[in-house]
Amino acid sequence: MFKIQRTIIICIILISALSTNAQTIHINTNNMSLVYNVSNSKLYQLHFGPVLSSLKGIEYTGLIYNEAYPSFGNGQSDEVALIATHADGSIATDLVYKKHTQTTSDNIQTTTIQLQDERKPFYVELNFKAYQKENVIEQWVKIHHKDKGNIRLEQFASSAIGFKAESYYLTHFYGGWAKEMMMVEEQLTNGTKCIETKRGVRSTEYENPSFILSLNQKAQENNGEVYMGALAWSGNFKFGFQVDDQERCQMIAGINPFASDYLISSSDTFLTPRMILTYSNSGKNAASINLHRWSRKYNLRDGDQRRPVVLNSWEGAYFDFDETKIKNMMDGASEMGVEMFVLDDGWFGNKYPRNSDKAGLGDWQVNKKKLPNGIGSLIDHAESKGLKFGIWVEPEMVNPKSELAENHPDWIIQRMNGREMLLERNQLLLDLSNPKVQDFVFNVVHKLLVENPRIAYIKWDANRHLQNFGSTYLETNQQSHLWIDYTKGLGSVIERLTTKHPQVIFQACASGGGRVDFGALKYMHEFWASDNTDAYDRLFIQWGTNHIYPPIATGAHIVKSPGHQTRRQIPLKFRCDVAMGGRLGLELQPSNLKKEDILFTKSVIDSYKKYRHIIQFGDLYRLQSPYDNDGFASIKYVTQNKNEAIAMVYSHEFHRRNERNLLKLKGLDENGIYRVVEINKISKKSTVDCEGMEISGSILMNTGIKVDLKKPYTSLVLYLEKIEN
Ligand code: GLA
Repeated sequence: MFKIQRTIIICIILISALSTNAQTIHINTNNMSLVYNVSNSKLYQLHFGPVLSSLKGIEYTGLIYNEAYPSFGNGQSDEVALIATHADGSIATDLVYKKHTQTTSDNIQTTTIQLQDERKPFYVELNFKAYQKENVIEQWVKIHHKDKGNIRLEQFASSAIGFKAESYYLTHFYGGWAKEMMMVEEQLTNGTKCIETKRGVRSTEYENPSFILSLNQKAQENNGEVYMGALAWSGNFKFGFQVDDQERCQMIAGINPFASDYLISSSDTFLTPRMILTYSNSGKNAASINLHRWSRKYNLRDGDQRRPVVLNSWEGAYFDFDETKIKNMMDGASEMGVEMFVLDDGWFGNKYPRNSDKAGLGDWQVNKKKLPNGIGSLIDHAESKGLKFGIWVEPEMVNPKSELAENHPDWIIQRMNGREMLLERNQLLLDLSNPKVQDFVFNVVHKLLVENPRIAYIKWDANRHLQNFGSTYLETNQQSHLWIDYTKGLGSVIERLTTKHPQVIFQACASGGGRVDFGALKYMHEFWASDNTDAYDRLFIQWGTNHIYPPIATGAHIVKSPGHQTRRQIPLKFRCDVAMGGRLGLELQPSNLKKEDILFTKSVIDSYKKYRHIIQFGDLYRLQSPYDNDGFASIKYVTQNKNEAIAMVYSHEFHRRNERNLLKLKGLDENGIYRVVEINKISKKSTVDCEGMEISGSILMNTGIKVDLKKPYTSLVLYLEKIEN
């Protein structure tokens, strides 16, 4: 009863306001609308969902949400986007609407809404970019003031969004080292569900800053209302989803405010990271395609450039190599058609050589014992074999056993007052809030690239969290800035480097998938999805990852069997077919491969090169989930003009004689005729009975293809080409 009364009262206030000082702000893309309304000088969100072709009568939709950017102290007791302690110690903030601007050019509608505290010179600017064709809205917030003295920000969300449905199903991506991006879905109940990290660095290892929210049912691939979101930030984040007594769901998302109070003076501006949002009323596959297309165009370095096939030395050599061994690896890589050789950890350090993870990190001079002729000689050899050369660095970190730690102990993030420091992988973290340290980190990589201008690829690693909280650089009253200033410092170093060296490919690695976020991808070309290279586990890791992040950016390598993490025996073809689902690479010692394995791997690399435009730039369709208990997984890539497609099917369990896998394809042209060809074959016999046939798109999508995979770890890759319209 009370609930109904409260809703009616809010409705009446809003409706009367709409008819008096109504001011409606419509942010929209081709398929999505976000509508705000000014009522009694306050800004409310009225709608977020399908595009509205007209706003006439919007006040009657009954979708009543909270304020657009709820602040603490304004009389509400729900989750808030902003908490600020003003210079006079008061903690109430009441934001009122001042004005807004909206412009559209080149596919992007830009909206800025100015809010101000009712009593104080305290300003909040809500910013939106709406990408028309990709159906993505980017949202971020600018906070500043003109008060005397500092204002302490204690909560500073990027996004506050309301949803309205009868029930909500939240999918998020959790995990750990070697188990990143596992998916879990749960129905939200009343109260607040939070997903977050407080680890500062390797911030996406345990929980990714992204979500899927499905309305009224569990998220389906091809039907239902689904929202997806991700925060472009490589640091602590927190997303809270509060379901209230009126069945509304309010999401507050942004930097995690945990132990991160931030002081701003009148000359500072606090900018939040961007929250990326998309919506689909035809299920989550369409929402993923929105994010993939958007990121390739607007949020991935060189998202329209083909990615090379890489051989990374780590699992093939670890720390145990010298110049001869590396050159031999290059010879083997070149024989198989690899295009980029990447030298991993272990190439540096002299006083404390980096022969294990115990020493040398921080001393970025070439190890003269291992590589007496330097990196130049390796690059010469690589190029003589038709390979480009890349190299591993981990410049944010330092081993206590290093010249860097001896010379600059104050550059290390530390627990103050002589407290013992926690080591992780025998290493500590450099203090990137300090501009001098930023310059050092910049120069480590800059110098390497200037001295070796033919280095074409940097694998940027980060192998610990930020737990020894304390900075010798930050003022005593600003120690809580560390998490935010670290992430901003890192962003500025990477931005400087990638601007100075635009031709170099950058990979974000952090013990595997610890830095998989749109903040990193703005400057980097790809990420290392996981240190777990077991092809069966990768089915799950890549499945989760590619819900949000595009396959072109997903480093996926063929490894030896049994693999170094799980020791599972997996046939080479299955390993190849799984790695082919992302940015294909290898992570092995070629000289350990048998002749026939070299030939097969070469044939896979050849087909990848031939068809990579489909995988790297096509739309990804998820056909069969590895999470469903039928022992199959399948995905498909289709070029945007629907002329070509690659379908990949994996059997990861035993299937009895009569267990059929009828694969219904997606994303094809219904009226087109496609020729079906199996690639990556190990024998002449095909796994499908329609090999070489010409079949209409509508039959392929509605009747499907019979796939004859019976054994665990068997797989199939099909190439489909449209031959008639
Ligand atoms: C991390 C990375 C690996 C490898 C090692 C090297 O674990 O994730 O790929 O580069 O460091 O030490």
